[in-house]
Amino acid sequence: MNILILGSGGREHAFAWKIAQSKWCDKLFVAPGNAGTADCATNVNMKVSDFTAMEKFCVENKIELVLPGGEEALVKGIYDYFLANENLKHIPVIGPSKLGAELEGSKSFAKKFMVKHKIPTAAYLEITKQNLEEGKKYLQQSSLPIVLKADGLAAGKGVVICNSHEEALQELHAMINDAKFGEASAKVVVEQFLSGIEMSVFVLTDGKNTLILPTAKDYKRVGDGDTGLNTGGMGAISPVPFATKELMQKVKTQIIEPTILGLQKDEIVYKGFIYFGLMIVGGEPFTIEYNCRMGDPETEVVMPRIENDLVELMMAVALNKIEDFTLIENQKAACTVVLAAKGYPTDAEIGEEIIIQKAEADEIIFHAGTKINAQNKMVTAGGRVLMITALEKDLNLARNKAITLANKGFFKHQLFRKDIGQDVCE
Ligand SMILES: Nc1ncnc2c1ncn2[C@@H]1O[C@H](COP(=O)(O)OP(=O)(O)O)[C@@H](O)[C@H]1O
Ligand SMILES: [Mg+2]
Repeated sequence: MNILILGSGGREHAFAWKIAQSKWCDKLFVAPGNAGTADCATNVNMKVSDFTAMEKFCVENKIELVLPGGEEALVKGIYDYFLANENLKHIPVIGPSKLGAELEGSKSFAKKFMVKHKIPTAAYLEITKQNLEEGKKYLQQSSLPIVLKADGLAAGKGVVICNSHEEALQELHAMINDAKFGEASAKVVVEQFLSGIEMSVFVLTDGKNTLILPTAKDYKRVGDGDTGLNTGGMGAISPVPFATKELMQKVKTQIIEPTILGLQKDEIVYKGFIYFGLMIVGGEPFTIEYNCRMGDPETEVVMPRIENDLVELMMAVALNKIEDFTLIENQKAACTVVLAAKGYPTDAEIGEEIIIQKAEADEIIFHAGTKINAQNKMVTAGGRVLMITALEKDLNLARNKAITLANKGFFKHQLFRKDIGQDVCE
């Protein structure tokens, strides 16, 4: 079958790499893709939100499955668009309906859902212009630090953790009165700070049953020791060493199952990946957030650890047959290290020539911000450029392997964290 992946990051390259290995995949397209996806698929010059262009493309190229990598197309309603269109309704889109995507698109929607379905999460209050005075009082009575979240999508920048009440009041004012994040912060979720250790759990669901995918942990700050500015993610590991059977059982019964049941009760159509952002507090899992797609760079460690045929699993999602499948997890540990451009995450310098070093067995070089320029040279084209993934018997060996390959040097001013996974190594 012919398959279309939407996006251009390392996540989409990892999906393309995995799908290209499927016995069911004939032609594979990635829109818009990058220099790496061009190696295992055909890149298509099309925006992920241009549904009209997509319709024409899907019909002309006999596409039989669409996998949106990021949230943009999903929040814009690609699932519903395909279903409502005579030419497209036979093509499964792996992801939630527009309503389901609100679990990521609106923090307020997600919090209401969690409370309604008794899914452990931080206590919160929703604040808008209407209840601003009540909101300010709530802030003043909250213990520190205080977490403020813009309701809508804010390019990963909408969460601010305040260490004083003054700062929290100022931030609330900036979000609501000064529209710091535009419409996205017209509503603000203020929540209790949970102190613990973060991890991500991913599932693939057909809306009724789920497959729990390998666990992962990502590293968000730009510098070693988790210091400096927040980024899209500087690395990831899988599996998470502290995600014991006991903890995963709690995650399953207290978080995953009530979420799926909640979706059914609320009649929210959801056939795709769910990303549970968790905080483990004293051994108990709490949900920090939902994302309606896989994480980036977590996908770059999760995909290489799945032994099943991913196309088979996605078809099972479309046909409501995921209960017939068991996940086969590779027993090796994976670590991915992101090579970022100088200046990332503020103003990354692009256009540097890239030399791709040779990868050995169990080493995979995923591309993100890469492109082929007019002179036919591969150059950097974004803040996060390459994700160097390595698999090994244990996490420590996987880390060393990824760092050794990264150290060979891919472009002149590459920056990367040397401590990915170090905090959780035995
Ligand atoms: N209630 C909370 N307690 C402690 N830390 C939090 C809390 N909510 C969010 N955070 C921190 O802020 C980060 C971003 O919050 P999240 O809800 O995941 O928003 P987004 O990913 O949309 O920016 C989290 O990864 C976590 O580190
Ligand atoms: Mg998050």
